Amino acid sequence: MKVLVTGGCGYIGSHTCVQLMQAGITPIIIDNLHNSSELVLQRIAKFNAGTPTFYEGDVRDRKLLQQIFSEHIITAVIHFAGLKAVGESVQQPLNYFENNVHGSLVLADEMDKAGVKSLLFSSSATVYGDPDVVPITESTPTGGVTNPYGRSKFMVEECLKDLYASDPSWSITLLRYFNPVGAHPSGYMGEDPQGIPNNLMPFIAQVAVGRRESLAVFGNDYETKDGTGVRDYVHVMDLADGHIAALNAVGDKAGLHIFNLGTGEGSSVLEMVDAFSAACGKPIKYDIQPRRSGDIAQCWADTEKARQQLNWVATRSLKEMAEDTWRWQSNNPNGYSE
Ligand code: NAD
Ligand code: WQD
Repeated sequence: MKVLVTGGCGYIGSHTCVQLMQAGITPIIIDNLHNSSELVLQRIAKFNAGTPTFYEGDVRDRKLLQQIFSEHIITAVIHFAGLKAVGESVQQPLNYFENNVHGSLVLADEMDKAGVKSLLFSSSATVYGDPDVVPITESTPTGGVTNPYGRSKFMVEECLKDLYASDPSWSITLLRYFNPVGAHPSGYMGEDPQGIPNNLMPFIAQVAVGRRESLAVFGNDYETKDGTGVRDYVHVMDLADGHIAALNAVGDKAGLHIFNLGTGEGSSVLEMVDAFSAACGKPIKYDIQPRRSGDIAQCWADTEKARQQLNWVATRSLKEMAEDTWRWQSNNPNGYSE
């Protein structure tokens, strides 16, 4: 079985390709390398026989999509490709809508024309905005998003719901990731952010490896266990496995399928700092700064639906998330570029 993986050179896409290949599924990757390196393909090849088939290009390139669909019998598409930096999206909203929304529409249209009607979409817990109640279930209202990136994810979800309503022969799966962290346990693959990391775990990792001086903890006056923000961090390998579970359980079933992918547990910023210190064997320097605009106090997933319907649960602990990130970061202090 061949699956088209858009954004397959990126952080979550590359780990998912490894797990797909382990499961006997052939990934065909399209990526424009906007936020990734072709070098990741050699790393993927370390775990499996051969390098995955790769098309360098953009999901908005209709001709390229037509070429791929004519050259391969594609069973399903996992759509990771997109821009994901929240702060940048505030500065460049049109770019985010163009890439994330328009890109998804072009892809869905070309899938439709090619008769490929199984799509798994990388959505985000950000579509829930600031929820009134935790844990968040899949029926928690969506749309209260606070930035253009989040709005682009919400908009694509709404477009795909309308597409399904118009043609119920589609299988559309919206996977709402919580906070993906961690790396492949081999130390060969991991997250390789360009510039200053936006997210907590890669920032901590760069402090630990000496690329950054100190972590700014954004607020310690939230109503949480220790005053710092609480999130549901999920290991990228668990997340990758979640895609295979979704492909197997619902990827061939017509329907609109929606799942939270998280652990169901919330960890604070300071708990992450402690876990990382233990993993790397040294203290992580940090100081308390004001809250970051747009941040919420806490969120974590209700994971019951994924457990029951996908037979998927995240099994990797916070300790493994920190240890695997540290192995990747310390073996590759400058990411894939060396
Ligand atoms: P990433 O930036 O590492 O990977 C995205 C990949 O898509 C990159 O390789 C990039 O080069 C490629 N790309 C971007 N625009 C493209 C286009 N128009 N055509 C072709 N390729 C394009 O990001 P990631 O962390 O792996 O995230 C993957 C997906 O999951 C994204 O859609 C993201 O919004 C979503 N998501 C990520 C997180 C997170 O915290 N990492 C959380 C929730 C949802
Ligand atoms: C986690 C916690 C921060 C950095 C973002 C997107 C979301 C999704 C996942 C894509 C918060 C604190 C962070 C730092 C800190 N991405 N923090 N110092 O904000 O939950 O979610 O990534 O879909 O859409 O919004 O993740 O890792 O940025 O922050 O104190 O330097 O760490 O305040 O409490 P977030 P994050």
